[in-house]
Amino acid sequence: MLYSDSLSVSPENHLMIGRHDAVALAREFGTPLYVLDEDLMRRNCREYRETLRRFCGDRALALFASKALCTLHTARVAAEEGLGADAVSGGEIYTLRKAGFPMDKVYFHGNNKSPEEIDLAMDSGVGYFVVDNRDELERVNAAAARRGMVQKILFRVKPGVDCHTHDYIKTGQIDSKFGVALETGEAFALHQYAASLPAVRVEGVHCHIGSQIFEIEPFLEALRRMMALIARLRKELAMPAKILNLGGGFGIRYEAEDDPPALADYMQAITDTLRQEAKRLDIETPFLVFEPGRAIVGAAGVTLYTVGSVKVIPGVRTYVAVDGGMGDNPRYALYQARHPALVANRAGDAPTGPVTIAGKCCESGDLIAENVPLPEVHAGDILAVLVTGAYNYSMASNYNRLPRPAMVALRGDDKKIIVRRETYEDVIGHDVL
Ligand SMILES: Cc1ncc(COP(=O)(O)O)c(C=O)c1O
Repeated sequence: MLYSDSLSVSPENHLMIGRHDAVALAREFGTPLYVLDEDLMRRNCREYRETLRRFCGDRALALFASKALCTLHTARVAAEEGLGADAVSGGEIYTLRKAGFPMDKVYFHGNNKSPEEIDLAMDSGVGYFVVDNRDELERVNAAAARRGMVQKILFRVKPGVDCHTHDYIKTGQIDSKFGVALETGEAFALHQYAASLPAVRVEGVHCHIGSQIFEIEPFLEALRRMMALIARLRKELAMPAKILNLGGGFGIRYEAEDDPPALADYMQAITDTLRQEAKRLDIETPFLVFEPGRAIVGAAGVTLYTVGSVKVIPGVRTYVAVDGGMGDNPRYALYQARHPALVANRAGDAPTGPVTIAGKCCESGDLIAENVPLPEVHAGDILAVLVTGAYNYSMASNYNRLPRPAMVALRGDDKKIIVRRETYEDVIGHDVL
């Protein structure tokens, strides 16, 4: 079982990604190498689009959470597949704009948008600002007023729902740097204030309770609370509040035992609850928005490395050192994220024992994965780390002045470099003295 139906083992015992031999890709483009299975990314986009159409007709939209993987090419793929986008910085907005993304389908997030980012977003025609706090609200109102326009906004609300995921990727509880709290009355008060401002119009509400969530109930509880807020906004403040954006966070399979619900199961439960709540509160059902990130690109990414050395510490563990590390995948160092791995040039071999995959950075915590079952590994083997499409390239750094890897996109029989490998000249390129 290779985690996704686009991975297989060739007759030469090599890992195949779609129709491409991973070992040949490593030879042709060098390692470390990010491989994006564009066909799978497109299938995932279509699954969102079609499932939303099935459950909501034309009353829902999926936004691709750019933070998961933001390049010109991935932005174009998301646009071609009919998704909107969530952007969280000037850099992501700039990328979307340069990619020709339909900017009216962009929601601009972030808990500390700078005045320059607000200007860039407005001048780029971003559809919606997801406003995080009162200071930002005033800045957005002032920027829109200067342009003689009314900016459509939603507030990011913390619904106070706990979900069982890593603390660093939980965001819906009161102690979060993101958004305004529902249970303290902060959220309602900010909406009241917004109603008095001339250059913003509240179009809906937003929440994102966390990431890698496997239970449906936390989404439903957030939905109930947000629907109660929408009802109050409509009845007490006469605000249209037409949109309910429930964020992203749909869990995906990283480990063999991970068993996330199917998208249709999430949507069935969400839309059933939405209709019940709308009836109970006697309000029209809002337009639903979702912001999947890892569910679109996570499984579509594979990172290929060359093994440089194998260090067996008897009675302790075996370190397999690869030519990348936390610079291209900081997720284990950041929040002990788990990624499966394979020896790409002996992909069908049975594991002989668990190893620790270590990077080449000058940090003991520079690990890609621990306790990974692998067959015997030797220097020169090609290691494939799976499910690296989300929050790998987009979180990469030049720590230790390592150049960042290239990314190759696979579509059918075609393969093309969409991000070129950095050079040492790139690495020093911003040093001016
Ligand atoms: C506001 C918001 N929306 C969407 C996402 C995407 O989350 P995921 O990739 O888990 O779907 C995030 C992730 O941090 C987020 O903060």
